[in-house]
Amino acid sequence: MIAATSDAAHLARLHAQCFSEVWSAESFSALLANPGCVALMDEAGFIVVQVVADQSEVLSLGVTPAARRRGIAAELLRAALKQAADQGALMMFLEVDCRNFPAIALYKQVGFVEMGRRKAYYTTAEGQCSDALTFRMEIPALLVGNCMQLG
Ligand SMILES: CC(C)(COP(=O)(O)OP(=O)(O)OC[C@H]1O[C@@H](n2cnc3c(N)ncnc32)[C@H](O)[C@@H]1OP(=O)(O)O)[C@@H](O)C(=O)NCCC(=O)NCCS
Repeated sequence: MIAATSDAAHLARLHAQCFSEVWSAESFSALLANPGCVALMDEAGFIVVQVVADQSEVLSLGVTPAARRRGIAAELLRAALKQAADQGALMMFLEVDCRNFPAIALYKQVGFVEMGRRKAYYTTAEGQCSDALTFRMEIPALLVGNCMQLG
């Protein structure tokens, strides 16, 4: 379902189970107030995307550890692609830590194509650097036919 500002606390709780970096309920509220920003969520997962003109970007995506490998993230991504298309987007972009193998496998499975690498883009709390991989997907290709068959 599409998250409302009143869902900010639930989104923050989900985010806290998926990432070490904290996004507070207040930061989710502020994010959702941005034009073109939309969050989709269920009990165990969420995705936040930003649509600007004909482009969209995944800002965050997570599924709680106990609910992983059940297809929830893939389903959220496909729903976000549809939502972005409905808001006029033709492309979706995202970036991911090059060491995040589950997420990279997910994005490739859904149909994203790797397009570049940003050197030392991330820094861990321990001060370790890692590269970001950037991915893109042309949305119209997904929307031709039944999107649920992709992947
Ligand atoms: C990455 C993440 C969102 C995947 O969520 P999920 O609901 O478990 O993913 P799905 O069940 O939809 O997986 C779809 C496909 O992605 C790939 N995949 C997902 N997790 C994987 C893993 N741990 N190892 C290998 N492949 C994996 C598989 O191809 C999988 O299909 P399959 O289960 O039929 O083999 C989840 O692990 C997570 O929240 N991680 C922490 C936060 C994070 O890294 N977010 C992304 C930041 S860019």
